[in-house]
Amino acid sequence: MEIALLDGGEGWEIVQALDREVYSPQFMATAIWRDVVWAHADKRVVVRDEGRVVCHAGLFFREGTLDGRPARMCGIGGVMTVPAARKRGYASAAMRRAAEAMTGVDFGLLFCEPHNTALYAGLGWRVFGGTVTCVQPSGPFLFDMMPTMILPKRAAPERGAVDLCGLPW
Ligand SMILES: CC(C)(COP(=O)(O)OP(=O)(O)OC[C@H]1O[C@@H](n2cnc3c(N)ncnc32)[C@H](O)[C@@H]1OP(=O)(O)O)[C@@H](O)C(=O)NCCC(=O)NCCS
Repeated sequence: MEIALLDGGEGWEIVQALDREVYSPQFMATAIWRDVVWAHADKRVVVRDEGRVVCHAGLFFREGTLDGRPARMCGIGGVMTVPAARKRGYASAAMRRAAEAMTGVDFGLLFCEPHNTALYAGLGWRVFGGTVTCVQPSGPFLFDMMPTMILPKRAAPERGAVDLCGLPW
């Protein structure tokens, strides 16, 4: 397994095919978040096995707020492993590399569907009990369609009001 940390734009060229395979039209038809407008990743962890791209995690560095005070966060989004290579630890490895890259942040923040919370909990992430607001083209948007999880860094908020001050990830 090779793990690389790439710039967001450069990495997107490399993971587009994986994205199309994982988020197929059939998958998207039932995804509760299919109409959300997402931010573009600042960095990307790309995992290859024997040269083939098998897994990805996007990193989103953001100056947001927690209870009205500035909070530097690193979002994680677009975590995906090619279906044929799941349950081999690729996403876990990508998440560990992403956590290493989160220097100078107060906390990590991700959204995930309930069936995936155990995966992230095993990697040190905790379910956040507060609210998260972000921006959509229609205006401010309360992001409550999926659980939010926090990776403690300088801070470990368990509840409160997070504002992403921009598009979600
Ligand atoms: C969620 C997803 C990214 C997980 O990827 P993955 O590479 O299979 O993840 P891992 O292999 O690191 O871990 C998955 C599980 O396999 C287990 N596992 C890891 N290595 C294993 C091995 N060698 N043998 C058996 N099980 C193993 C892990 O313990 C974990 O178990 P858990 O789900 O009970 O916590 C993948 O299923 C996916 O792409 N899903 C579709 C898109 C999606 O939902 N993305 C998440 C958005 S938040």
